[in-house]
Amino acid sequence: MASNPLEWLLVKFNLIARPVLDTQVAGTYVHVIMAAVKVGLFDALAAGPATAEKIAAGCGTHPDSTAKLLPALASSGYLRARGDQYELSPLSRKWLVTTSPHAVNDKLLLQFYELGLMQRADEYLRSGKPLDFHTGMSDDVWDSYQRGMKCLTTGQTGMVAKAVPVPEGATDMLDIGGSHGAYSVELCRRHPALRAVVFDLPDAVRHAAPLLAEEGMGDRVRHQAGNALTDDFGEACYDAVVIIGVAHHFSDEQNRELTAKVARALRPGGVYTVAEFPAASGGGRTQQLAALRDFYFALASESGTWSPAQIASWQRAAGLRPAKPVRLAASGGLNLQSGHKPR
Ligand SMILES: C[S@@+](CC[C@H](N)C(=O)[O-])C[C@H]1O[C@@H](n2cnc3c(N)ncnc32)[C@H](O)[C@@H]1O
Repeated sequence: MASNPLEWLLVKFNLIARPVLDTQVAGTYVHVIMAAVKVGLFDALAAGPATAEKIAAGCGTHPDSTAKLLPALASSGYLRARGDQYELSPLSRKWLVTTSPHAVNDKLLLQFYELGLMQRADEYLRSGKPLDFHTGMSDDVWDSYQRGMKCLTTGQTGMVAKAVPVPEGATDMLDIGGSHGAYSVELCRRHPALRAVVFDLPDAVRHAAPLLAEEGMGDRVRHQAGNALTDDFGEACYDAVVIIGVAHHFSDEQNRELTAKVARALRPGGVYTVAEFPAASGGGRTQQLAALRDFYFALASESGTWSPAQIASWQRAAGLRPAKPVRLAASGGLNLQSGHKPR
């Protein structure tokens, strides 16, 4: 959080209260950006530079508070100040204007809910009881959740679909917790004989259905509402099963049971691919991002991040043959661990 070389030195030699920078300053920073997204401030500037007063009028916000927010955004690289006008910076134009193909606004809107959960971290620490991310979401949050997940797939689907092994002659795949279906759509486009079932919770399907419909895949990629922890997937009916960014919501035991059901649902020669964020490795070597994610998933769901070795152990126990893991560094750091069902 140091903003100049002197501050950096003060932090390095422990001469400044870094905990205040890490909390008060970082917390304000987070909320300044998220509030700007929520009121549509970046969209209001999409047509060109404007004064604080004009921006406030465009967003329906108070001119005084808007005038206080704008310098905070400009000094953080999210806007550029030109005289009494403000304009988008390359950063906000790419990521925070809703018409941009890279826009992550929906994910930032979901973060209001996610930060609400994080504010209860002390409660989780005392009780050891995770908060259930998937219960207690309002309709609006479900909508931001599904849209937010879809916007994070932009630029990733091709890379992931290329790395997911699909057996020759495959006709049927299952995408567990598949939400918007973007990965299934990409896999079906790569493999013309393939059709997909995108399996997700009923609330998710309700909000994800319009996102999938936009892809124009018709019956080839269809939703199925259910609960992966309690529903059965049938026997020998899929050639490929994927679960992308979902296993961190489930405990070790739940993942083991799920893998056993998937193994039964696979045809001989079929493949189960689990894509997950890198696991925190523990101790001083733990990377900050992996460790923070692990804590967040533990608080928000049941478990945390899983390593390819742990995922391979579920696959082995279910009679699948684990392949070498694949690390997609550019894809949010996802690891892919596939397990093959013997023929
Ligand atoms: C983090 S999102 C990942 C979505 C998508 N696979 C992706 O990578 O963009 C997790 C998804 O798993 C779904 N999910 C969570 N628990 C589930 C369960 N028990 N059964 C089916 N789907 C579930 C959620 O509704 C959500 O759509």
